[in-house]
Amino acid sequence: MAERDPWWRDAVVYQVYIRSFADGDGDGIGDIAGIRRRLPYLRDLGVDAVWINPWYPSPMVDGGYDVADYRDIDPLFGSLADAEAFLAEAHESGIRVLLDLVPNHTSDRHPWFEAALAAAPGSRERSRYIFRDGRGPGGSEPPTDWPAVFGGPAWTRITEPDGRPGQWYLHLFAPEQPDLDWSDPEVGDEFESILRFWYERGADGFRIDVAHGLVKDPAFPDLGRGRPSTGDQPSPYWDREGVHDIYRRWRSVADEYGDRPFVAEVFVPTAERLARYVRPDELHTAFDFRFLLAGWDAGALRTAIDDSLRALEPVGAPATWVLSNHDQVRHATRFGREVVAGRSGETDRRQVDPGTPDLVLGRRRARAALLLMLALPGCVYLYQGEELGLEEVLDLPEDVLQDPIWLRSGHRIRGRDGCRVPLPWSGAASPFGFGPPGSTPWLPQPAAWRSRTVEAQTGVAGSFLELYRSALRLRREHPGFRGNGMAWLRGPASVLHFDRPGGLEVVVNFGPDPVDLPIGGPHVLLSSEPLTEDGRLPADTAAWLA
Ligand code: NOJ
Repeated sequence: MAERDPWWRDAVVYQVYIRSFADGDGDGIGDIAGIRRRLPYLRDLGVDAVWINPWYPSPMVDGGYDVADYRDIDPLFGSLADAEAFLAEAHESGIRVLLDLVPNHTSDRHPWFEAALAAAPGSRERSRYIFRDGRGPGGSEPPTDWPAVFGGPAWTRITEPDGRPGQWYLHLFAPEQPDLDWSDPEVGDEFESILRFWYERGADGFRIDVAHGLVKDPAFPDLGRGRPSTGDQPSPYWDREGVHDIYRRWRSVADEYGDRPFVAEVFVPTAERLARYVRPDELHTAFDFRFLLAGWDAGALRTAIDDSLRALEPVGAPATWVLSNHDQVRHATRFGREVVAGRSGETDRRQVDPGTPDLVLGRRRARAALLLMLALPGCVYLYQGEELGLEEVLDLPEDVLQDPIWLRSGHRIRGRDGCRVPLPWSGAASPFGFGPPGSTPWLPQPAAWRSRTVEAQTGVAGSFLELYRSALRLRREHPGFRGNGMAWLRGPASVLHFDRPGGLEVVVNFGPDPVDLPIGGPHVLLSSEPLTEDGRLPADTAAWLA
């Protein structure tokens, strides 16, 4: 009998954005106590694993992606003992736990960076980060013209301990997130030790933040005017060859602990470049954001799916599909906007007023997109709240916005807080069971979420939540989903139609009119909306047949 595939090759992983999942202590911020209390919910939803966004001590300049101590828990979220208890309880519930590892940068409050500021240029302490002298008279110009992802230059000048204007340090993100220098062997040793620390406490794997950014061109060339920082040109800091050595080392560490997968956050121009991260001796999986960025467009989605599967096949890695996460506009909102070729969730973020979405349409498409995604071979990531049909909150008051993008764009781009609003669990008013009665969630929840709570949707036929539960159950139990691969079946350009080796057949109608389902053949296991009276598949609807 063939050995069963390792669990992570077709896992459904639920992303827990910890500050917004469930608040156990009533301070308005989600925490480990909240997740522990909601483990039965996750078990009943039917997910294989959770990925928890950074929970380490942090000044929280970038929602915890500015880590001050990689081996502890921020007091906002609990203690190390709470984390260990949670890991044990999750395992008892049959749920694995992936942690978020942030290796490109630390917080500026990390002891290493504080020591670097206190030490002299050229010192051992400075060599763990990327300090350089400035250019121009008195070194007053940054060492290169690189822009930071969150806006402004990627370099900040420090004041030396003697009070004089000094060197510059690199930060591809916020100034409070100094980039580590991965050419310093101590950095690699430290991260190996951090991996082991969490494996020994029961972590089942890691999501790797900015996995394509760790290695910089030692020549520190300028980008040059008008040259994009990503794209076809080799970049001095994205996707450089040296990152692969790092991941080969990490893989050999992970393998000592059994099946503990990595999933990499990688933004690269092609699926072929992505596949290089998941070669057999490197990482297990990597998000392919082309699927997320395709929009509600049959042709673009089909191309994204084909590209991903084609590029991954030779390296033997499973595909990794995702529709929403804590950085992107929630897909119920994205799909409720006009499809504009080449416009991505990322691009939406940069628009000051992207227009009012049609949420009825967006939710309908989101339901269909779920059935499409869950039917594809490979692993799937769900972002908390998508199972409730939550939309992006576009009208958060300016004074509550916390995303560094808001600050660093000079208050032009609102940033990502709109997809991070605390979840509604129960009741008719905020905090909707997110925290104890009377507590105030860190971002305000829309009053309309009273109809979107877990409580309001549980047991209601046709609700978003029940669609997710049914779909996840079928994906887990039905033999139609077994086996790798898929094959497209013939049909009009506005319909995606494919089957899987286990016998599942999938039809997704992107066109404006109902379409026929295969006659006399397989029967409908599940559809994202009811079929028409004459048994046809309506617009913006998907069906699973077997
Ligand atoms: C990607 C993370 O998902 C995002 O939230 C964060 O701001 C950046 N990396 C920087 O760490």
